[in-house]
Amino acid sequence: MRLRNVTGSEQIIAKSNYVCCQPEQLRGKWYSFFQNENPIHIEIGMGKGKFITKMAKLNPSINYIGIEKYSSVLYRAVQKIDKDEQSSVVAVKDDNDGHKRREYPNLVFICMDAREITAVFDEGEVKRIYLNFSDPWPKDRHAKRRLPSREFIGLYDKILSADGRLEFKTDNEGLFRFAMDEVTPAGWQTDQVTWDLHHDPIMVEANVMTEYEEKFAAKGNPIYKYIISR
Ligand SMILES: C[S@@+](CC[C@H](N)C(=O)[O-])C[C@H]1O[C@@H](n2cnc3c(N)ncnc32)[C@H](O)[C@@H]1O
Repeated sequence: MRLRNVTGSEQIIAKSNYVCCQPEQLRGKWYSFFQNENPIHIEIGMGKGKFITKMAKLNPSINYIGIEKYSSVLYRAVQKIDKDEQSSVVAVKDDNDGHKRREYPNLVFICMDAREITAVFDEGEVKRIYLNFSDPWPKDRHAKRRLPSREFIGLYDKILSADGRLEFKTDNEGLFRFAMDEVTPAGWQTDQVTWDLHHDPIMVEANVMTEYEEKFAAKGNPIYKYIISR
């Protein structure tokens, strides 16, 4: 995702009620942060946050954490949700401690590289991981940077609960074939797979489109998806 560098984006996102700036301090404490025992679902590489924000609105009893590497990209998500709140009929007032309440208390964003994920989540703390339209890194020598690579699955293994799962979708056939080939060597299993999500009556049910998905589906590209677990 190429975006113009936004001057001061780090400072701007740091002020947002939706951005957690010291996430490593919440390792093992995310349930207390959300003040409930609801499951935690994360999206890695959330981009401008269309998918995760919609999921949080649709499912108030799930806690969502969006992770994005670049502050200039996360800035767009923050801008959008701030605008949403300003135009919302729901008043977002400060609480007695002076903390700003969020209209979507089940949503939070983190600006970080997914390589650091085990510093932010404790063993088994996450119930579901979403990877949507991850960067393909087409050169072989960059395979380890691909988010569905076995190296990253090794990290996901540490933070995902025993009954947790990972959902991945993309329109990039090469990346999808690569991802499929990584599942067994990583010690995981494929539970569901489709080579045309939008025409799969079962897997398309309750599908929430991401920004990239909308763009590529509009061009007629098939969308590939798998769900994997251990
Ligand atoms: C192609 S965009 C897809 C955005 C969104 N998920 C969608 O489907 O519309 C991939 C995003 O993943 C982010 N990303 C790539 N590698 C990452 C990493 N190691 N950690 C966190 N985010 C990453 C990129 O910065 C980019 O915003």
